[in-house]
Amino acid sequence: MARAEWGSRLGFILAAAGSAVGLGAIWKFPYVAAQNGGGAFLVIFLVIVCTLGISLMIAEMSVGASTRRSPVGAYRRLGGKWWSGVGYIGVLCGFLILSFYSVVGGWTIAYIVKSIDGSILTSNPAFLSTTFDSFIADPVLPLWYHAAFMGLTAAVVLAGVQKGIEQVSKYLMVMLFLLVLVLIVRGLTLPGAIDGVLTFLQPDFSKVTPVMVIEAMGLAFFSMSLGMGCMITYGSYASDETYIPNSAGSVIGLTTIICFLSGLMVFPAIFVFGFDPSAGPGLTFITMPAVFSQMSGGQFFGILFFFLLFVAALTSSVSLMEVVVSFFIDEFHLPRTAMTVVMSILMFVLGIGASLSLGVWKDYTLFGKNLFGILDYVSSNLIMPFGGIMVAILVGWKSWPVIADRLTRADGTQPVWLPLLKGFCRYIAPVLIFVILIQNL
Ligand code: PFF
Repeated sequence: MARAEWGSRLGFILAAAGSAVGLGAIWKFPYVAAQNGGGAFLVIFLVIVCTLGISLMIAEMSVGASTRRSPVGAYRRLGGKWWSGVGYIGVLCGFLILSFYSVVGGWTIAYIVKSIDGSILTSNPAFLSTTFDSFIADPVLPLWYHAAFMGLTAAVVLAGVQKGIEQVSKYLMVMLFLLVLVLIVRGLTLPGAIDGVLTFLQPDFSKVTPVMVIEAMGLAFFSMSLGMGCMITYGSYASDETYIPNSAGSVIGLTTIICFLSGLMVFPAIFVFGFDPSAGPGLTFITMPAVFSQMSGGQFFGILFFFLLFVAALTSSVSLMEVVVSFFIDEFHLPRTAMTVVMSILMFVLGIGASLSLGVWKDYTLFGKNLFGILDYVSSNLIMPFGGIMVAILVGWKSWPVIADRLTRADGTQPVWLPLLKGFCRYIAPVLIFVILIQNL
């Protein structure tokens, strides 16, 4: 059977952007940036995205597009037998991420419900924080939402590559973008908003620590879906006419803009209403209802916001599931339906642990982190950077001619920056990531 392809070039970009733009940009970026003090963190994040991010995005997409294989097969073909191990680690990483990602995806559904019943339409920070904390600590309720989110993810994947993913991505992402702009305007016109803006934008480089740099790097990998083969998988469905650098640039640009705008949306609210900037994973969930409470039609905007956040999360979770499932299809010729069901159940079970570790199991920790924190840290700050090193080495050293060929335009000309990309993948990217990792061990 011919391998599936994206319906159009735009379809490819939208689907890849749908994978990248998700909870990373809107849920994780604001709280990690706030925990790390804002300004300087933003600068470091942007520098990493504009160097490592863009290079590795081009590298991953090209690896997929030139081999037409998902990660394991792609690494094997370009690097040889042993390299397929990197692909296996990527698949494992996708598995780990989706297990806790689905828990947070479940929170978005719960917050749609809470917005509909109106229970969170208040600007009282203590109430909003307590509501969130007691919800995620509940041993039962979040698990139902987690199950619903995982089930929906599986349903989309079962609908197939194009129909499932492309259709959902298109319109709703534009709506999300517009809504975020509206919310920024509302936030910025509240008294005291300027303190939030300044904290977010004014860098204080004296506060930079190795921890901050690795957090920024991990966040970049996570929010751009890099380092675990997701963009290899998506690239493998790209048609021959797709010019990878344009797609890669669009995806990076779009995701970075959404990260930035999310910061601009959340930071003012922290200061206007007096939330704790280091509130952690609840930050977007607790601050935004306060903003809605100050808007006419606030309840409607609340429902819309959490619905669009849910959709953004779903297009990302679908890509994670796709990495895991297409591995079994491509490597072992197992049926898509059965693998989707089996993997969903296994990831759901691990996610139960992650969810409970925020409540009844919160005392079980390793290196001061609960299971949720461990899954997050290991995937974003260890496995994905490792995957980044490996894909850079593969592209820079082992398979450059194949990649250069794929990056050559249809008229035979090569982009002027091609040697730069080669040098970056050969030397700078692996060394840079390695140094950041080592600093933290
Ligand atoms: N980039 C997604 C987000 O920011 O929500 C998360 C993600 C999706 C990470 C797919 C990795 C991945 F392969």
